[in-house]
Amino acid sequence: MSKELMIERIEKAQKEIEAKREKIQQGKFRQNYHFMAETGWINDPNGLIYFKGKYHFFYQYNPYSGFWDCMHWGHAVSEDMIHWEYLPLALAPSEVYDDHLKGGCFSGSAIEHDGKLFLIYTGTCNNGNGFEQAQCIAYSEDGIHFEKYEGNPVITAPEGVPTDLFRDPKVWKHDDTYYVVCGASQNGFAQARLYKSTDMFHWEFVNVLAESRGEWGYMWECPDIFALDGHRILAVCPQGVPSEAEQYQNIYQSGYFIETEETRTVDASFKGTKETRTVDASFIEWDMGFDFYAPQTFETPAGRRILIGWAGVPDAEYSSNPTNEGWQHSLTVPRELRYHNGKIYQLPIRELGQLRKKEILPEKESYVLDNGCGELIFDGIAASSSAAICVQIGTGCSLSYEKGLVTLQFTDDSGAGRGKRVARCEAVHKIQILMDVSILEIYINDGEIVMTSRIFFPEKDATVRFLGQAEMIQAWQL
Ligand code: FRU
Repeated sequence: MSKELMIERIEKAQKEIEAKREKIQQGKFRQNYHFMAETGWINDPNGLIYFKGKYHFFYQYNPYSGFWDCMHWGHAVSEDMIHWEYLPLALAPSEVYDDHLKGGCFSGSAIEHDGKLFLIYTGTCNNGNGFEQAQCIAYSEDGIHFEKYEGNPVITAPEGVPTDLFRDPKVWKHDDTYYVVCGASQNGFAQARLYKSTDMFHWEFVNVLAESRGEWGYMWECPDIFALDGHRILAVCPQGVPSEAEQYQNIYQSGYFIETEETRTVDASFKGTKETRTVDASFIEWDMGFDFYAPQTFETPAGRRILIGWAGVPDAEYSSNPTNEGWQHSLTVPRELRYHNGKIYQLPIRELGQLRKKEILPEKESYVLDNGCGELIFDGIAASSSAAICVQIGTGCSLSYEKGLVTLQFTDDSGAGRGKRVARCEAVHKIQILMDVSILEIYINDGEIVMTSRIFFPEKDATVRFLGQAEMIQAWQL
């Protein structure tokens, strides 16, 4: 255990950030209102929580280059989830269980316990016996400086679970007990494993909460459990699900199961009830775009359930140009969740409205977004299975709807290798588009379908044109 080593590693990373910050901020593809790391690489959002008056964001972070490597936890706080202040990194690799160039402090979550901010994360190392992942604790009095628990790791992979497939603890509290769900694999089938504790240090296995029988992959990353409007949701990121023409189009998936009486293996108090571990067939993908993965949800003090995803996918074949600028990726805007008609609708949080600077008026039926940054709403669209519509975005990107199929397609380099993604939809009446220099988030029918994609306009400004019938079109510069 070396408290000093973690402090040293954080200081080293901060110096690197300090040295590169200014240059990287000038990158052509830097976004304006999406959350990015100051320098280097970002992937999963971690530890989302409202603690002592502020929203805290932690994130998987390599401050040293625009590529995934040696995971640290970045940290930022906000009062409105829109404007962020970066804090010193929260975690850096420093211990025998998390100090590795191809490992580090992997994803996890946060909770308040004993007046302190607790993090539970996956320590990943390789000390000669292959990669080993185990769940670890760190805590902080001030919510800024963290200390790793000397008894780490607190949960290790049981017999039968490969040690390199056991990660991403998501914690919550129910009555007086803490619960954690972890992604795992057994006999080649993905699992969500449930643990409980009364003190955050000693954990007891409850049960395998849900398990793939092969149809939902060999591994679930970043599991999450929450209740939404009376329904209990299990969200997971399956790896190993074969792509289909209209579903599971990315290399790894991200979505949720809505639990039913038949599929639940723990009751409303999270007590194990039965051994049936199958999940039903209703896996619903969060986002049908090219760049979305590893989301995490949390609840605000007012009871809003917010989801934030990584606007990227691991091991994607297409490229994302900003690595040349010394940084890579961002998070999606925070989305508020709502259960409606058997699925979850996602909408950009209303706080984003404060970013609307000035309304953009059409010029020859086109909307020009300075610096590729703005918001567009097309409402009252007359689109059905027989009437087609199309939104042209920049030089080679289009969003169209025809015969029940929404298609997001790139035909030039603005897609940097991205081709086509589709989503089934009975009717399209509203489209909201958030553009931010090198990212596009598309919300259809108030969040019934969402598509997130990176985009790399060759020109500075972006021209958007709507072809079809809409009762109202609004556009703002953001
Ligand atoms: C998901 C993921 C997690 C892991 C982390 C490592 O993108 O692979 O399973 O904890 O990223 O950075």
